[in-house]
Amino acid sequence: MAVSKNEVVGWGLIGCGVIAPTHAKAVQKVEGAKLVACCDVIRDAAEARATEFGEAGCAVYTDLEKMLADPNVDAVSICTPSGMHSANGVMAAQAGKHILCEKPMDVTLEAIDALIAAAAGNNVKLAGVFQRRTYDSSKKVREAVRTGKLGKIVVGDSYQKYFRSHEYYASGAWRATWDLDGGGALMNQGVHGIDLLLYIMGDIKRLNARCRTLVRNIAVEDTAVASVEFVNGALGVIEGTTSVTPGMGGKIEVSGDHGTIVLDGDNITVWDVPSDEAVETSDGGDVGAGRDAAAGLGEKGHVTHVADLVDAIWNDREPEIPGREARRAVEVIKAIYLSSRRGGETVELPLSYDDDGPGIDDRGASWDW
Ligand SMILES: NC(=O)c1ccc[n+]([C@@H]2O[C@H](COP(=O)([O-])OP(=O)(O)OC[C@H]3O[C@@H](n4cnc5c(N)ncnc54)[C@H](O)[C@@H]3O)[C@@H](O)[C@H]2O)c1
Repeated sequence: MAVSKNEVVGWGLIGCGVIAPTHAKAVQKVEGAKLVACCDVIRDAAEARATEFGEAGCAVYTDLEKMLADPNVDAVSICTPSGMHSANGVMAAQAGKHILCEKPMDVTLEAIDALIAAAAGNNVKLAGVFQRRTYDSSKKVREAVRTGKLGKIVVGDSYQKYFRSHEYYASGAWRATWDLDGGGALMNQGVHGIDLLLYIMGDIKRLNARCRTLVRNIAVEDTAVASVEFVNGALGVIEGTTSVTPGMGGKIEVSGDHGTIVLDGDNITVWDVPSDEAVETSDGGDVGAGRDAAAGLGEKGHVTHVADLVDAIWNDREPEIPGREARRAVEVIKAIYLSSRRGGETVELPLSYDDDGPGIDDRGASWDW
């Protein structure tokens, strides 16, 4: 049933693991939404989330199809392993449910496009999660770049240096698998910083990259570096790892011929823009998330995402991060994987579906020592 304007949106959680409470708390904080259903193949997990965060009578499901048949559910958060997002989302769209989908939107471009098409075809909203985009500090940096405050943009870099332990990788059978995680340091963690770089700098035209598995005993990359050229002519670096101590989270550096800005986590630590007043530097988002999985992850950005989707439903508008926006970072990561697989060859964007595949160079080190 369609949701009328100002009617509370009944929310369902699909997947009740690590990130699910962040969505549940966000739903609690948004007046126009209420948590009415939780679904997980592990009943205890769904029950625990429903008890802790749900409205009285919050339903518990272990079968997604059954939850999607529940008329109280108007919108869902997809919090399952990344390679299941599109399959879950297509089912939700076909059942007429609006969708807030965790990052990455899926792990192949074809799967993401199938989800985008299903949402459009069934007239439901599809929003992607990239909470760092929602912070004022990110918006300020983007605005400064777009309005020419830094002059001609020369370089834009995204450094995503995280720490993830062996225990983290062992904590779920889907983690660090090509099929369900879609990659490692870039597809799971670095995707946030790559999205932010694209949000601030615009699209990438071509890149060269190397991916390696240097420390962790995993099938996917734990470290990757790419040299990139943006459509606006600037150059830059993308660096992602989950194997350094201490994890430092994400840093974006942008410099033009008239100024430089550094966004460290969610804090603007350098605002060297001669034409400008000093700016507020702290945004209080999820500082600390680089150190270990979900450590310090606040729900502030997710509150904005939930509120945005509610408003998009009420006003029949596009969400702030529609499917095609959430797709961009995945395409860049796929280009990085392709370049690495080809020994660092230049890869031009956009990619075709045939370019999909893992990121480790055949000749590069996998973890075999
Ligand atoms: N935005 C962020 O900062 C952030 C942080 C952490 C995770 N994530 C994303 O959230 C997603 C989930 O990550 P996680 O760490 O919570 O994983 P998790 O393994 O802790 O949770 C996934 C849950 O999905 C359940 N599940 C699997 N198949 C299901 C099905 N068919 N139906 C219903 N439930 C099913 C599992 O039983 C598990 O409880 C991933 O895509 C990840 O990238 C985003």
